[in-house]
Amino acid sequence: MKRQPLRLAILEATRILEDAGVESPRNDAELLAAHVLGVERGRLPMVPLVDPPVIDAIGQLAAQRAKRVPLQHLTGWAALGGITVGVGPGVFVPRPETELLLEWGLELLRGREYPVVVDLCAGSGALALAVANARPDAVVYAVDNDPHALAWARHNADARAEAGDTPIRLYSGDVGDSSIFTELDGLVDLVLCNPPYVPPGGELPPEVIDHDPPQAVFAAEGGLAVFRHAVGTAARLLKPGGGLAIEHDDTHGSAAPTLVSARKVLTGVEDHLDLTGRPRFVTARRAATAPSDGASRAGG
Ligand SMILES: C[S@@+](CC[C@H](N)C(=O)[O-])C[C@H]1O[C@@H](n2cnc3c(N)ncnc32)[C@H](O)[C@@H]1O
Repeated sequence: MKRQPLRLAILEATRILEDAGVESPRNDAELLAAHVLGVERGRLPMVPLVDPPVIDAIGQLAAQRAKRVPLQHLTGWAALGGITVGVGPGVFVPRPETELLLEWGLELLRGREYPVVVDLCAGSGALALAVANARPDAVVYAVDNDPHALAWARHNADARAEAGDTPIRLYSGDVGDSSIFTELDGLVDLVLCNPPYVPPGGELPPEVIDHDPPQAVFAAEGGLAVFRHAVGTAARLLKPGGGLAIEHDDTHGSAAPTLVSARKVLTGVEDHLDLTGRPRFVTARRAATAPSDGASRAGG
């Protein structure tokens, strides 16, 4: 068969994705085409004609995407900060919502040499690895309690170390375990956390419900159980002046900062919007002097 215009294959894929209710059909069609061709998306206009097997491959991927398989599972990667990480079945796909949380954390580290950073709820390792990429002098720890997520994180950590980034320290553990990282008590400059936070039963698109691991998405106590544990752990780990940034559901714009404020050692509590303008993450600093923590009154 003859070579055909790539443009038409992308238009056809866009139409299929639009009909399937995919949120950004043109974007996804172009990224799938770029994936098949092994080029950056920006270089697609330089590929006017393609062979029939390329058209077939784009069509097959579009058909899977139309069944609402996440784009990132089809391409095999997701981006956060300055890096990409491998993702697929068994691990949460990093979201653009988390970019501003990462930015806040990197800003906090500005001017601090050899900072100690902890990523609670590491998933693919995206946050921890993005920090290690941006700050080669940082000592970055990351923890998750899911062996499947940890396998992805290990794979990604190895790939980033091979690319020249400072290796991160990955651990298996539960953020609610009071013995986790006790060797770092009062020594940490920055705690970042994107915990599972969707209230059980919450409505979500098929990409999330059918493909993100449920333990990465949902949390008990109306979505705040892991969040609450992570805040308690952060209060213990942070050094005076150290900072916490922790993500939350967009329905927790008031409950999340209230939970953080209940820890008396955490001050300057502020809620932030994400790139779409929704309440998304709380930040706080550990008090310079140590008042007694409100831990017991906060319930954990
Ligand atoms: C929303 S994902 C975040 C992944 C990654 N930080 C990101 O932003 O892409 C939450 C992660 O928390 C992990 N997790 C859930 N409960 C946990 C707990 N109690 N202790 C440690 N990790 C937990 C899940 O396995 C999942 O990988």
